[in-house]
Amino acid sequence: MHGRPSLVRVGSGPVETALGSLPWFRAPALAALVNSLARMATTPVSDELFARTRTVVPGGVNSPVRAFGSVGGTPRFFAHASGAHAWDEDGNELIDLVGSWGPLPLGHAHPAVVAAARAAIERGSTFGAPTRGEADLAERIVDAVASIEQVRLVSSGTEAAMSAVRLARGATGRSKIVKFDGHYHGHSDGLLAAAGSGVATLGIPGSPGVTAGATADTIVLPWNDPAALDAAVDEHGDDLAAIICEPIPANMNLVPAAPGFLGHLRDAATRSGGLLVFDEVISGFRVGRGGAQHCYDVAADLTVLGKAIGGGFPLAAFGGRADVMSELAPVGPVYQAGTLSGNPVAVAAGIAQLDLLDDEAFARLRTVTAEVLAALAEPLVGAGVDVVARRVQTLAGLLFTTVAPMDRAGVAAADHDRHRTWFHAMLDQGVYLAPSGWEVIFTCTALTDADVLTIRRASEAAAEQIANGASFG
Ligand SMILES: Cc1ncc(COP(=O)(O)O)c(C=O)c1O
Repeated sequence: MHGRPSLVRVGSGPVETALGSLPWFRAPALAALVNSLARMATTPVSDELFARTRTVVPGGVNSPVRAFGSVGGTPRFFAHASGAHAWDEDGNELIDLVGSWGPLPLGHAHPAVVAAARAAIERGSTFGAPTRGEADLAERIVDAVASIEQVRLVSSGTEAAMSAVRLARGATGRSKIVKFDGHYHGHSDGLLAAAGSGVATLGIPGSPGVTAGATADTIVLPWNDPAALDAAVDEHGDDLAAIICEPIPANMNLVPAAPGFLGHLRDAATRSGGLLVFDEVISGFRVGRGGAQHCYDVAADLTVLGKAIGGGFPLAAFGGRADVMSELAPVGPVYQAGTLSGNPVAVAAGIAQLDLLDDEAFARLRTVTAEVLAALAEPLVGAGVDVVARRVQTLAGLLFTTVAPMDRAGVAAADHDRHRTWFHAMLDQGVYLAPSGWEVIFTCTALTDADVLTIRRASEAAAEQIANGASFG
């Protein structure tokens, strides 16, 4: 006899997991009866714009995960947004749980960020010369992240991660780097091996155009496997420039580090004489001002930042130990540069956002993230659908599977067809989730209690459809 499955919470510390189970009698019987969802929103304008854009832009998008490739259907073309809500070109209102993939912990168009950017652009959009704002932003980053003594501003997370790896190699005089299967560090050649969500969404292991030579010095290891790490350090330790990871991996859904694993990475890097590089492009200024390294109390040698530090503008950074950072040109020999680096508009927006991200804001973000995850997961669990819902501080992930995965292979084994059905059922009810089961849920402080209730109602309807065997496509 199967009752309503209960929500089981396991784990402690920053990680919380909820599991639900699927009664045996559900899906097979009803799946045959219902095989499509009644989609409510109409999107003729998005359809037309997608058709137009596809003729002049490959796939109709300027970054692949936007294309709805793994869920099917037409991507919504966004017209405007405010707080936690966005409106598409057809006038459909959406509760936005993607939030431009991370840069907006305060939500869209926060008045203070808008005012700062507007004031900055009126003073001139770029100078290619140093500005006061660069000092102001760099000081804020150095104050917030304990392991960062110096920082260099760049324009994208890709550029920041690529530069950090170059610096690690230049500073150590070594060649090899360890990265982890399913972790994404942008699309520079050497890091585009086994690289998580975007690549996984497309179902290709790396990318044509990346030569074997470009990744020859990249050692890819499974996440949460201390023995594999120790073996790699034993074999390559003398030539190991860096171990790079997302300390809170959020590009293969959300797969937290097992207890002690980040400390193990720290020890392995120190033992080998290489540098520990934390890619906090997502976690930086999202899980707290000190980033994941503060939450887990593990110091990196170099840290990569992006997304939240730019307030929604193209801005990223890498920073760390002063002795390592001083290897960078013009002080040292490691070259790195950028016409728009430290762009004054992006810097002003970033400062405005960071100044609002105080303890109270992060407490609110943590609370609302827990509420949103519960609103999404509990109706599914209540309807008897297998889900694993996990949260690390202010980052959340939900996967249709029975066992909480601890590496990329576990995420691959989840039911991504069911995610597709869930995604469309939620979208039809005005809740915009990432269009792939490989992604996480991005919340913002602008989400209200009413939004959380709307999300819960939408999830109840979606859960019912899934439990009744609905499938998209
Ligand atoms: C952890 C991580 N590192 C690096 C990047 C690359 O950043 P960008 O897209 O700004 O190049 C991303 C992008 O999602 C990311 O999630």
